[in-house]
Amino acid sequence: MCGIVGYTGGRRASEIVYRGLEELEYRGYDSAGIASLENGNIYTVKRRGRVKSLDGLISDLDGNTAVGHTRWATHGKPSDKNAHPHVCGKFALVHNGIIENCEELKKMYFSGVEFDSETDSEVIVRLIDLFYDGDILSALKNTASLLKGSYAVALICADFDGLAVMKRNNPAIIGYGDGENFVASDAPALSRCKTITILKDGDIALVTKDGVNIFDENLQGVIRERIKNLAEPSSLELGDCPHYMLKEIREVPATVVNTCSAYLSAEQKIKEVLSGVNRIIITGCGTAYNAGLLGKRYVELIAGIPAEAEIAGEFRYKRPIVDSKTLVLAVSQSGETADTVEAAKLARSLGGKVIAVTNSPYSELVRLSDATAPVAAGPEICVAATKSYVGQVAALYLFANTLAGEPIEKCIGELEAVSPLCKKTIEHIEISSLADMCARSNGVYFLGRDTDYAVATEGSLKLKEISYIAGDGYPAGELKHGTLALIDIKTVSVFIITRKELAEKNVNAVEQVLSRRGKAAVVTNIESVCEKLRKRAEIIRIPECPENLSPLISVTVLQMLAYNTALLLERDPDKPRNLAKSVTVE
Ligand code: M6R
Repeated sequence: MCGIVGYTGGRRASEIVYRGLEELEYRGYDSAGIASLENGNIYTVKRRGRVKSLDGLISDLDGNTAVGHTRWATHGKPSDKNAHPHVCGKFALVHNGIIENCEELKKMYFSGVEFDSETDSEVIVRLIDLFYDGDILSALKNTASLLKGSYAVALICADFDGLAVMKRNNPAIIGYGDGENFVASDAPALSRCKTITILKDGDIALVTKDGVNIFDENLQGVIRERIKNLAEPSSLELGDCPHYMLKEIREVPATVVNTCSAYLSAEQKIKEVLSGVNRIIITGCGTAYNAGLLGKRYVELIAGIPAEAEIAGEFRYKRPIVDSKTLVLAVSQSGETADTVEAAKLARSLGGKVIAVTNSPYSELVRLSDATAPVAAGPEICVAATKSYVGQVAALYLFANTLAGEPIEKCIGELEAVSPLCKKTIEHIEISSLADMCARSNGVYFLGRDTDYAVATEGSLKLKEISYIAGDGYPAGELKHGTLALIDIKTVSVFIITRKELAEKNVNAVEQVLSRRGKAAVVTNIESVCEKLRKRAEIIRIPECPENLSPLISVTVLQMLAYNTALLLERDPDKPRNLAKSVTVE
């Protein structure tokens, strides 16, 4: 949700910052901009649209110090004037976050002043300029003390040959080079830096080409750990894939295997955290919540312990019941989703334990958790989560087995056996006819029972977010309690049927759709289902596997369906409208 980048060193800063913005573009793509410092002057270019809209403009930026921004609009529509950097006096500033008291601050400090943009961010640079008397640190400290909300800010100042950074509730990471230093919103964008420092809330940093000085909110110098950057580069190479989404779906099989090895190293710590726990709550947002729905069933089916799945944005505001025996699993690809991070913080403050299930080892979520169940999906660029979902499901499956006291090597063996089945499905799936049905439809409903229902929720989210076709993920048994009223010749109902004991019931639901002239498709690995529905419903046959693991395979079908439908409708599957990858604001 907005990416910030900064560079100071001996090279042409605008080019380096531009590259960094390309790597962070999945965080927002409404507008982009760069400000560069040259001989004590600040030059800015910014445009509505994607980073490449800056092509041809940055050739005028010659300096060795610059900041850049790629935006996901919160306050103020996407436009040139709302694009960052925002400039005031001697400063140019980029911001990721939301300033909740921006209107209040404007009234209090800038009554009658006309702002250049409709953004909340502009108030930050205006305050810094207001408080500046030659001392950047004090200006930042005074500004920070007034701000409510979240921010990661990087700025340049005409009087200072370097970058200034401050942060609260949004990520800012310093990257170290040789005679040059960097700042960015996340570690993969700093993959060329061997070492990094993750700033803490309240930190203010001054970064020059020769070094980094970090201060706490009272301007006391602090030492923050300089750690090895283990983040994999967020490779922008697409190989033979036209889109990141397809590339990342194809990385699902490797994600399953890599998540298993990563879990093996993490299991001991997880076992320690489990001591005394008698209640499990799984929380997350969007796809991560959908993975949590499966996690809940795994905990119940495998460990026989009641579990709840809660949307993080609900959990944090419902005054949840959490005590020292409660374990909250906070699921998040990015590890920085505001609602999930806040839910985890709340659980800890109530005395509960927290395990992060995440793809981002340096994230805020990892830092505040008691342990991590790692998801080893590697950087995910496409806004729609695919391989990370499968990695989360694999990690939750392993977790449930640890909880049940099962030998983990056995479960790893099961997952490793499913990985080639995912590969086979992704490579050989014939989905074009169903995608065509969906692209022409007025609505697509995804239905299943139990674990298949959990997969249905994810299938529906995937299709909605990249094809913009309305629909829902529903428990198949609920169809007749309302949703059936929506079914007509222009709707498609996609059933996921992989639980043998529930197959008959699901076939009944398919019949209910067919008898209302609705179109139906079935993703199944059960022969009797295929026989009963052959020629009447579109059948997508998937390989058989242990029942609890079929979601890892069936979801790849739904991911491929969403991808192909989006292509038919000429949507950009990697950058769906209105969305961004990491939602770091409420
Ligand atoms: O980084 P997180 O897993 O915490 O993100 C949560 C959701 O924002 C995310 O899953 C979102 O729903 C995706 N765009 C789904 O594809």
